[in-house]
Amino acid sequence: MHVDLSINLGGIRMKNPVMTASGTFGYGPEYADLVNLDTLGAIVVKGICLEPKTGNEPPRTAEVASGMLNAIGLPGPGVDGFVREYMPFLRRHDVPVIVNIWGRTLEEYAEVAARFSDVEGIAGLEINVSCPNIKEGSQVFGTHLDLFRKVLDAVRAATPLPLIPKLAPDVSNIADFARAAEESGANAVSLINSFPAMAIDIKTRKPRLANITGGLSGPAIRPIAVRLVWLAARAVSIPVVGIGGISSPEDALEFLIAGASAVAVGTANFTDPGTAGRVIAGIETYLREAGHQRVDDIVGSLRI
Ligand SMILES: Cc1cc2nc3c(=O)[nH]c(=O)nc-3n(C[C@H](O)[C@H](O)[C@H](O)COP(=O)(O)O)c2cc1C
Repeated sequence: MHVDLSINLGGIRMKNPVMTASGTFGYGPEYADLVNLDTLGAIVVKGICLEPKTGNEPPRTAEVASGMLNAIGLPGPGVDGFVREYMPFLRRHDVPVIVNIWGRTLEEYAEVAARFSDVEGIAGLEINVSCPNIKEGSQVFGTHLDLFRKVLDAVRAATPLPLIPKLAPDVSNIADFARAAEESGANAVSLINSFPAMAIDIKTRKPRLANITGGLSGPAIRPIAVRLVWLAARAVSIPVVGIGGISSPEDALEFLIAGASAVAVGTANFTDPGTAGRVIAGIETYLREAGHQRVDDIVGSLRI
């Protein structure tokens, strides 16, 4: 029986539902010797803001039980640097490129989105809202519903590209944020970003990250992410991308059954760059063995 893995993610046509999570796969070329990029559902590149930016002081990562903490500080080449240095390479590949964007102000988000609108070869924008708003007292955009709506409205007005707001996990009601995204004209939502967290070296009594706090990712957050994806998917009719601790086909299938239309592999890329490939093959096998022809057949198929 033929299994068709292709999906349409809010206007982005993908060969299969498995993408790479932002910040864990560079901008693509870094992994090109290890992974056939054309086999991926999509590549989501590391977060890009308006101007080039350096990251935080080391240590920027720390290993913890079943996961890692990071506070890399969103270094990057800025819009022009990314387009100049990476887009010629990415355009030569047959894989949708989703650019993860962020800003320090509403205006910056809108400008980054507007600049990407005319760039050939960009399939869509993922909007990272897990960063502080420097104008309004460093409140994080993604955890305040009003600020979140303002970012999305500003970005929506700035670009016709498909938009995928990436939801922060540390909110009291994820459904409100998913609905706000849909109401603002988002084409899909992705979740979750890493979970705010902290670890301390008890010998030195210092935080293990120079930034003091960071984001927790990896298998430790997967059950949290599965629940949030389930809640978000029930609240909206736009597609949901499930992210959080996926390192096997079984992990990805949990998200699809919970209601995600696609998934992204993050931290697992650091230990096994072949993870996305294994996940794609495993989803195909699962569908075939269960007698399904399309991915959609199992999306949200949770039995309660
Ligand atoms: C080192 C590192 C860098 C990341 N950088 C970004 C980023 O630039 N933008 C973003 O939206 N998410 C970023 N993330 C979050 C991931 O895309 C993902 O949402 C999170 O790690 C959960 O998935 P995982 O458990 O599979 O890693 C980063 C994660 C890690 C571990």
